[in-house]
Amino acid sequence: MAQSNQPAPPMGEPIAPITASGPSDRAKIALGESLFNDARLSHGDVVACSSCHRLDFSGDDGLARSVAADGKPLDFNTPTVFNAALDFRLNWRGNFRTFEEQNEAALLDDRLMNTSWEELLTKLRSNAEYSQRFARVYGAIPDRTSVLDALVVFQRSLITPDARFDRYLKGERDAITTDEEHGYLLFKAYGCVACHQGANVGGNLFQKFGIFQDPFARQKTLTKADLGRFAVTGAESDRHVFRVPSLRNVAVTAPYFHDGRTASLADAVKIMARNQLGRELDQRDADLIVEFLGTLTGEYRGRPLTSAADRLQQ
Ligand code: HEC
Ligand code: HEC
Repeated sequence: MAQSNQPAPPMGEPIAPITASGPSDRAKIALGESLFNDARLSHGDVVACSSCHRLDFSGDDGLARSVAADGKPLDFNTPTVFNAALDFRLNWRGNFRTFEEQNEAALLDDRLMNTSWEELLTKLRSNAEYSQRFARVYGAIPDRTSVLDALVVFQRSLITPDARFDRYLKGERDAITTDEEHGYLLFKAYGCVACHQGANVGGNLFQKFGIFQDPFARQKTLTKADLGRFAVTGAESDRHVFRVPSLRNVAVTAPYFHDGRTASLADAVKIMARNQLGRELDQRDADLIVEFLGTLTGEYRGRPLTSAADRLQQ
Protein backbone atom coordinates (compact mmCIF):
# COMPACT_ATOMS: atom_id res chain seq x y z
CA MET A 1 0.00 0.00 0.00
CA ALA A 2 2.27 2.69 -1.30
CA GLN A 3 0.21 5.74 -0.42
CA SER A 4 -0.02 5.05 3.29
CA ASN A 5 1.88 8.23 4.09
CA GLN A 6 2.51 7.26 7.69
CA PRO A 7 4.13 10.16 9.53
CA ALA A 8 7.12 9.66 11.79
CA PRO A 9 6.08 9.16 15.43
CA PRO A 10 6.64 12.11 17.78
CA MET A 11 10.11 12.08 19.37
CA GLY A 12 10.63 8.89 21.33
CA GLU A 13 7.09 7.56 20.79
CA PRO A 14 6.52 4.31 18.86
CA ILE A 15 3.00 5.39 17.82
CA ALA A 16 2.18 8.37 15.60
CA PRO A 17 -1.12 10.24 15.37
CA ILE A 18 -3.17 9.76 12.20
CA THR A 19 -2.62 12.78 10.00
CA ALA A 20 -3.74 11.32 6.66
CA SER A 21 -7.15 12.64 5.70
CA GLY A 22 -7.87 10.51 2.63
CA PRO A 23 -8.99 11.61 -0.83
CA SER A 24 -11.11 14.73 -1.26
CA ASP A 25 -13.02 14.08 -4.51
CA ARG A 26 -16.55 14.14 -3.12
CA ALA A 27 -18.39 12.92 -6.20
CA LYS A 28 -16.10 9.89 -6.48
CA ILE A 29 -16.36 9.14 -2.77
CA ALA A 30 -20.16 9.32 -2.94
CA LEU A 31 -20.27 7.03 -5.99
CA GLY A 32 -17.94 4.54 -4.28
CA GLU A 33 -20.07 4.68 -1.16
CA SER A 34 -23.21 3.84 -3.17
CA LEU A 35 -21.43 0.87 -4.73
CA PHE A 36 -20.09 -0.29 -1.34
CA ASN A 37 -23.62 -0.26 0.10
CA ASP A 38 -25.31 -1.84 -2.92
CA ALA A 39 -26.33 -5.52 -2.86
CA ARG A 40 -26.57 -5.42 -6.65
CA LEU A 41 -22.81 -5.82 -6.66
CA SER A 42 -23.39 -9.45 -5.67
CA HIS A 43 -24.83 -12.33 -7.66
CA GLY A 44 -28.57 -12.52 -6.92
CA ASP A 45 -28.45 -9.08 -5.21
CA VAL A 46 -28.06 -10.72 -1.79
CA VAL A 47 -25.09 -9.04 -0.07
CA ALA A 48 -23.31 -5.71 -0.21
CA CYS A 49 -19.75 -5.01 0.90
CA SER A 50 -21.37 -3.23 3.83
CA SER A 51 -23.27 -6.38 4.89
CA CYS A 52 -20.02 -7.56 6.47
CA HIS A 53 -18.17 -4.23 6.68
CA ARG A 54 -20.89 -2.26 8.49
CA LEU A 55 -20.01 1.41 8.33
CA ASP A 56 -22.74 2.32 10.82
CA PHE A 57 -20.75 0.19 13.31
CA SER A 58 -17.02 -0.16 13.23
CA GLY A 59 -16.42 -1.40 9.70
CA ASP A 60 -17.02 -5.05 10.57
CA ASP A 61 -20.08 -7.03 11.71
CA GLY A 62 -19.28 -8.10 15.26
CA LEU A 63 -19.31 -11.80 14.37
CA ALA A 64 -16.49 -14.25 15.03
CA ARG A 65 -16.81 -15.14 11.36
CA SER A 66 -19.31 -13.72 8.91
CA VAL A 67 -21.76 -16.07 7.29
CA ALA A 68 -21.44 -16.51 3.53
CA ALA A 69 -24.38 -16.76 1.11
CA ASP A 70 -24.11 -20.57 1.37
CA GLY A 71 -25.04 -20.30 5.07
CA LYS A 72 -21.60 -21.42 6.34
CA PRO A 73 -19.09 -19.25 8.19
CA LEU A 74 -16.18 -17.78 6.25
CA ASP A 75 -12.62 -18.94 6.90
CA PHE A 76 -11.51 -15.64 8.48
CA ASN A 77 -12.92 -13.07 10.89
CA THR A 78 -14.00 -9.96 8.97
CA PRO A 79 -11.53 -7.13 9.61
CA THR A 80 -12.69 -3.54 9.75
CA VAL A 81 -12.25 -1.50 6.59
CA PHE A 82 -11.55 1.65 8.62
CA ASN A 83 -7.89 2.69 8.25
CA ALA A 84 -7.13 -0.30 6.01
CA ALA A 85 -5.63 2.36 3.72
CA LEU A 86 -2.83 2.80 6.27
CA ASP A 87 -1.84 -0.91 6.24
CA PHE A 88 1.12 -2.06 4.15
CA ARG A 89 -0.80 -5.11 2.89
CA LEU A 90 -4.43 -6.21 2.96
CA ASN A 91 -6.18 -9.20 4.56
CA TRP A 92 -5.03 -11.27 7.54
CA ARG A 93 -2.30 -12.87 5.50
CA GLY A 94 -1.39 -9.67 3.71
CA ASN A 95 -1.91 -11.43 0.40
CA PHE A 96 -2.92 -8.28 -1.45
CA ARG A 97 -0.87 -5.13 -1.95
CA THR A 98 -3.58 -2.91 -3.37
CA PHE A 99 -7.26 -2.24 -2.73
CA GLU A 100 -7.94 -2.81 -6.44
CA GLU A 101 -6.64 -6.40 -6.28
CA GLN A 102 -8.33 -7.08 -2.93
CA ASN A 103 -11.69 -5.64 -4.03
CA GLU A 104 -11.71 -7.47 -7.35
CA ALA A 105 -11.05 -10.72 -5.47
CA ALA A 106 -13.94 -9.94 -3.07
CA LEU A 107 -16.27 -9.30 -6.02
CA LEU A 108 -15.35 -12.54 -7.79
CA ASP A 109 -15.04 -14.79 -4.69
CA ASP A 110 -17.93 -17.25 -4.74
CA ARG A 111 -18.29 -17.02 -0.94
CA LEU A 112 -18.33 -13.20 -0.91
CA MET A 113 -19.95 -11.26 -3.75
CA ASN A 114 -19.93 -14.21 -6.16
CA THR A 115 -20.31 -12.07 -9.27
CA SER A 116 -18.47 -11.69 -12.59
CA TRP A 117 -17.49 -8.50 -14.40
CA GLU A 118 -19.90 -9.33 -17.18
CA GLU A 119 -22.82 -9.70 -14.76
CA LEU A 120 -21.90 -6.66 -12.69
CA LEU A 121 -21.23 -4.28 -15.58
CA THR A 122 -24.44 -5.33 -17.33
CA LYS A 123 -26.41 -4.46 -14.18
CA LEU A 124 -24.69 -1.11 -13.64
CA ARG A 125 -24.93 -0.08 -17.31
CA SER A 126 -28.64 -0.82 -17.47
CA ASN A 127 -29.24 1.31 -14.40
CA ALA A 128 -30.04 4.90 -15.40
CA GLU A 129 -28.80 6.49 -12.19
CA TYR A 130 -25.43 4.71 -12.15
CA SER A 131 -24.98 5.39 -15.88
CA GLN A 132 -25.46 9.10 -15.26
CA ARG A 133 -23.20 9.20 -12.23
CA PHE A 134 -20.37 7.32 -13.96
CA ALA A 135 -20.75 9.61 -16.98
CA ARG A 136 -20.45 12.64 -14.70
CA VAL A 137 -17.49 11.36 -12.66
CA TYR A 138 -15.55 9.29 -15.24
CA GLY A 139 -16.98 10.60 -18.54
CA ALA A 140 -17.89 7.08 -19.67
CA ILE A 141 -20.09 4.08 -18.96
CA PRO A 142 -19.06 1.97 -15.93
CA ASP A 143 -16.17 -0.39 -16.63
CA ARG A 144 -13.86 -2.54 -14.52
CA THR A 145 -11.39 0.29 -13.94
CA SER A 146 -13.92 2.93 -12.94
CA VAL A 147 -15.93 0.60 -10.68
CA LEU A 148 -12.78 -0.43 -8.82
CA ASP A 149 -11.53 3.16 -8.71
CA ALA A 150 -14.76 4.48 -7.15
CA LEU A 151 -14.80 1.67 -4.57
CA VAL A 152 -11.14 2.25 -3.72
CA VAL A 153 -11.39 6.04 -3.44
CA PHE A 154 -14.29 5.55 -1.03
CA GLN A 155 -12.33 3.04 1.09
CA ARG A 156 -9.33 5.39 1.17
CA SER A 157 -11.65 7.96 2.76
CA LEU A 158 -12.42 5.60 5.66
CA ILE A 159 -9.83 7.12 7.99
CA THR A 160 -10.60 7.69 11.67
CA PRO A 161 -8.60 10.63 13.07
CA ASP A 162 -9.07 12.38 16.40
CA ALA A 163 -8.76 9.39 18.72
CA ARG A 164 -8.17 10.61 22.26
CA PHE A 165 -4.73 8.99 22.13
CA ASP A 166 -3.82 11.06 19.07
CA ARG A 167 -4.78 14.22 20.91
CA TYR A 168 -2.56 13.05 23.78
CA LEU A 169 0.35 12.45 21.39
CA LYS A 170 -0.12 15.92 19.98
CA GLY A 171 0.40 17.38 23.44
CA GLU A 172 -3.07 17.40 25.02
CA ARG A 173 -1.94 15.52 28.10
CA ASP A 174 -5.38 15.34 29.75
CA ALA A 175 -7.04 13.79 26.67
CA ILE A 176 -6.49 10.42 28.41
CA THR A 177 -6.86 9.41 32.07
CA THR A 178 -4.01 8.34 34.36
CA ASP A 179 -5.15 4.69 34.14
CA GLU A 180 -5.15 4.89 30.36
CA GLU A 181 -1.69 6.46 30.41
CA HIS A 182 -0.54 3.73 32.79
CA GLY A 183 -1.88 1.16 30.31
CA TYR A 184 0.13 2.81 27.54
CA LEU A 185 3.30 2.59 29.64
CA LEU A 186 2.61 -1.13 30.17
CA PHE A 187 1.93 -1.58 26.44
CA LYS A 188 5.42 -0.19 25.81
CA ALA A 189 7.12 -1.89 28.76
CA TYR A 190 5.85 -5.40 27.94
CA GLY A 191 6.97 -4.95 24.33
CA CYS A 192 3.63 -4.89 22.49
CA VAL A 193 5.06 -1.95 20.53
CA ALA A 194 7.68 -4.21 18.95
CA CYS A 195 4.89 -5.32 16.64
CA HIS A 196 2.02 -2.85 17.09
CA GLN A 197 3.49 0.54 16.23
CA GLY A 198 3.42 3.43 13.74
CA ALA A 199 0.38 5.49 12.80
CA ASN A 200 -1.86 2.42 12.51
CA VAL A 201 -0.54 0.76 15.71
CA GLY A 202 0.21 -2.27 13.51
CA GLY A 203 -0.40 -3.03 9.87
CA ASN A 204 3.23 -2.64 8.84
CA LEU A 205 4.84 -6.03 9.63
CA PHE A 206 4.43 -9.78 9.21
CA GLN A 207 4.86 -11.82 12.41
CA LYS A 208 4.25 -15.33 13.60
CA PHE A 209 1.21 -15.94 15.85
CA GLY A 210 2.85 -18.03 18.55
CA ILE A 211 6.46 -17.10 19.28
CA PHE A 212 6.79 -18.26 22.90
CA GLN A 213 3.82 -20.62 23.06
CA ASP A 214 1.67 -22.28 20.44
CA PRO A 215 -1.80 -20.69 20.36
CA PHE A 216 -3.03 -23.63 18.26
CA ALA A 217 -1.88 -26.31 20.73
CA ARG A 218 -5.35 -27.02 22.11
CA GLN A 219 -7.01 -27.21 18.71
CA LYS A 220 -7.80 -30.69 17.38
CA THR A 221 -7.52 -29.66 13.77
CA LEU A 222 -5.85 -26.74 12.07
CA THR A 223 -7.71 -24.90 9.32
CA LYS A 224 -6.05 -23.59 6.19
CA ALA A 225 -6.60 -20.13 7.63
CA ASP A 226 -4.56 -21.08 10.73
CA LEU A 227 -1.56 -21.80 8.51
CA GLY A 228 -1.28 -18.08 7.82
CA ARG A 229 1.04 -17.00 5.03
CA PHE A 230 2.29 -20.57 4.62
CA ALA A 231 -0.91 -21.25 2.66
CA VAL A 232 0.00 -18.36 0.35
CA THR A 233 3.76 -18.76 -0.12
CA GLY A 234 4.43 -22.44 0.75
CA ALA A 235 7.51 -21.31 2.68
CA GLU A 236 8.01 -23.17 5.99
CA SER A 237 9.11 -19.92 7.67
CA ASP A 238 5.64 -18.48 6.90
CA ARG A 239 3.74 -21.08 8.93
CA HIS A 240 1.27 -19.22 11.25
CA VAL A 241 2.63 -15.87 10.05
CA PHE A 242 0.06 -13.08 9.73
CA ARG A 243 0.06 -9.37 9.08
CA VAL A 244 0.23 -7.73 12.49
CA PRO A 245 -3.24 -6.16 12.67
CA SER A 246 -3.80 -2.49 13.38
CA LEU A 247 -5.07 -1.82 16.90
CA ARG A 248 -6.85 1.39 15.86
CA ASN A 249 -10.51 1.11 17.00
CA VAL A 250 -9.76 -2.33 18.46
CA ALA A 251 -12.06 -1.71 21.46
CA VAL A 252 -15.05 -1.69 19.08
CA THR A 253 -14.04 -4.45 16.65
CA ALA A 254 -14.53 -7.64 18.69
CA PRO A 255 -14.28 -10.61 18.20
CA TYR A 256 -10.52 -10.83 17.80
CA PHE A 257 -7.84 -12.68 15.85
CA HIS A 258 -7.94 -14.24 12.39
CA ASP A 259 -10.44 -16.86 13.63
CA GLY A 260 -12.45 -14.63 15.97
CA ARG A 261 -11.42 -16.90 18.87
CA THR A 262 -12.35 -14.45 21.63
CA ALA A 263 -14.73 -11.52 21.99
CA SER A 264 -12.99 -10.30 25.15
CA LEU A 265 -10.32 -7.68 24.64
CA ALA A 266 -8.76 -8.50 28.03
CA ASP A 267 -8.45 -12.15 26.92
CA ALA A 268 -6.96 -11.05 23.61
CA VAL A 269 -4.34 -9.00 25.50
CA LYS A 270 -3.48 -11.99 27.73
CA ILE A 271 -3.27 -14.32 24.72
CA MET A 272 -0.84 -11.88 23.11
CA ALA A 273 1.33 -11.52 26.22
CA ARG A 274 1.54 -15.31 26.66
CA ASN A 275 2.08 -16.34 23.05
CA GLN A 276 4.01 -13.38 21.63
CA LEU A 277 6.01 -12.27 24.67
CA GLY A 278 6.17 -15.27 27.02
CA ARG A 279 4.53 -13.31 29.84
CA GLU A 280 1.50 -14.12 32.00
CA LEU A 281 -0.41 -10.89 32.65
CA ASP A 282 -2.40 -10.46 35.83
CA GLN A 283 -5.94 -9.11 35.49
CA ARG A 284 -4.96 -5.61 36.59
CA ASP A 285 -2.26 -5.15 33.95
CA ALA A 286 -4.51 -6.68 31.29
CA ASP A 287 -7.32 -4.29 32.28
CA LEU A 288 -5.01 -1.26 32.19
CA ILE A 289 -3.82 -2.19 28.70
CA VAL A 290 -7.47 -2.55 27.67
CA GLU A 291 -8.10 0.95 29.06
CA PHE A 292 -5.27 2.28 26.90
CA LEU A 293 -6.57 0.45 23.81
CA GLY A 294 -9.92 2.21 24.31
CA THR A 295 -8.20 5.56 23.66
CA LEU A 296 -7.44 4.41 20.10
CA THR A 297 -11.09 4.68 19.03
CA GLY A 298 -11.33 7.37 16.37
CA GLU A 299 -14.10 9.25 14.62
CA TYR A 300 -15.83 8.87 11.28
CA ARG A 301 -17.93 11.77 10.01
CA GLY A 302 -17.58 13.46 13.38
CA ARG A 303 -18.81 10.51 15.49
CA PRO A 304 -16.76 7.97 17.45
CA LEU A 305 -17.01 4.44 16.03
CA THR A 306 -19.19 2.06 18.05
CA SER A 307 -19.14 -1.71 18.23
CA ALA A 308 -21.65 -3.89 16.45
CA ALA A 309 -22.48 -5.53 19.79
CA ASP A 310 -23.27 -2.19 21.46
CA ARG A 311 -25.39 -1.00 18.59
CA LEU A 312 -27.37 -4.23 18.29
CA GLN A 313 -28.29 -4.04 21.98
CA GLN A 314 -29.82 -0.58 21.66
C1 HEC B 1 -19.52 -12.11 3.57
C2 HEC B 1 -18.69 -11.10 4.21
C3 HEC B 1 -17.89 -10.15 3.36
C4 HEC B 1 -18.31 -9.42 2.26
C5 HEC B 1 -19.66 -9.43 1.59
C6 HEC B 1 -17.18 -8.59 1.88
N1 HEC B 1 -16.12 -8.81 2.70
FE1 HEC B 1 -14.39 -7.74 2.73
N2 HEC B 1 -13.62 -9.07 4.02
C7 HEC B 1 -14.28 -10.14 4.59
C8 HEC B 1 -13.33 -11.03 5.23
C9 HEC B 1 -13.64 -12.32 5.97
C10 HEC B 1 -12.06 -10.46 5.03
C11 HEC B 1 -10.71 -11.04 5.46
C12 HEC B 1 -10.25 -12.00 4.37
C13 HEC B 1 -8.85 -12.54 4.59
O1 HEC B 1 -8.15 -12.07 5.46
O2 HEC B 1 -8.45 -13.43 3.83
C14 HEC B 1 -12.28 -9.20 4.29
C15 HEC B 1 -11.27 -8.28 3.99
C16 HEC B 1 -11.50 -7.07 3.37
C17 HEC B 1 -10.54 -6.00 3.24
C18 HEC B 1 -9.15 -5.98 3.85
C19 HEC B 1 -9.16 -5.33 5.22
C20 HEC B 1 -7.85 -5.48 5.91
O3 HEC B 1 -7.76 -5.24 7.12
O4 HEC B 1 -6.85 -5.85 5.28
C21 HEC B 1 -11.11 -5.01 2.50
C22 HEC B 1 -10.50 -3.70 2.09
C23 HEC B 1 -12.43 -5.48 2.12
N3 HEC B 1 -12.64 -6.72 2.70
C24 HEC B 1 -13.32 -4.81 1.31
C25 HEC B 1 -14.49 -5.39 0.82
C26 HEC B 1 -15.26 -4.87 -0.30
C27 HEC B 1 -14.93 -3.63 -1.10
C28 HEC B 1 -16.33 -5.71 -0.47
C29 HEC B 1 -17.41 -5.64 -1.52
C30 HEC B 1 -16.93 -5.63 -2.91
C31 HEC B 1 -16.23 -6.72 0.57
N4 HEC B 1 -15.09 -6.52 1.29
C32 HEC B 1 -17.20 -7.72 0.78
C33 HEC B 1 -15.65 -10.33 4.55
C34 HEC B 1 -16.49 -9.77 3.60
C1 HEC C 1 5.75 -10.52 17.94
C2 HEC C 1 4.69 -9.66 17.45
C3 HEC C 1 3.57 -9.27 18.37
C4 HEC C 1 3.64 -8.80 19.68
C5 HEC C 1 4.88 -8.60 20.52
C6 HEC C 1 2.29 -8.51 20.07
N1 HEC C 1 1.42 -8.78 19.05
FE1 HEC C 1 -0.60 -8.50 19.10
N2 HEC C 1 -0.75 -9.43 17.28
C7 HEC C 1 0.29 -9.92 16.55
C8 HEC C 1 -0.23 -10.73 15.46
C9 HEC C 1 0.59 -11.44 14.40
C10 HEC C 1 -1.63 -10.73 15.59
C11 HEC C 1 -2.64 -11.49 14.71
C12 HEC C 1 -2.73 -12.91 15.20
C13 HEC C 1 -3.87 -13.70 14.55
O1 HEC C 1 -5.00 -13.24 14.55
O2 HEC C 1 -3.64 -14.78 14.03
C14 HEC C 1 -1.93 -9.88 16.74
C15 HEC C 1 -3.22 -9.58 17.19
C16 HEC C 1 -3.50 -8.76 18.27
C17 HEC C 1 -4.82 -8.39 18.70
C18 HEC C 1 -6.13 -8.76 17.98
C19 HEC C 1 -6.46 -7.67 17.00
C20 HEC C 1 -7.70 -7.94 16.16
O3 HEC C 1 -8.18 -7.00 15.52
O4 HEC C 1 -8.20 -9.06 16.10
C21 HEC C 1 -4.70 -7.62 19.82
C22 HEC C 1 -5.82 -6.98 20.63
C23 HEC C 1 -3.29 -7.52 20.11
N3 HEC C 1 -2.60 -8.21 19.13
C24 HEC C 1 -2.75 -6.83 21.19
C25 HEC C 1 -1.43 -7.00 21.61
C26 HEC C 1 -0.94 -6.58 22.92
C27 HEC C 1 -1.74 -5.88 23.98
C28 HEC C 1 0.37 -6.97 22.98
C29 HEC C 1 1.31 -6.89 24.16
C30 HEC C 1 0.85 -7.57 25.38
C31 HEC C 1 0.69 -7.58 21.69
N4 HEC C 1 -0.43 -7.59 20.90
C32 HEC C 1 1.94 -8.05 21.33
C33 HEC C 1 1.64 -9.69 16.79
C34 HEC C 1 2.15 -9.27 18.01
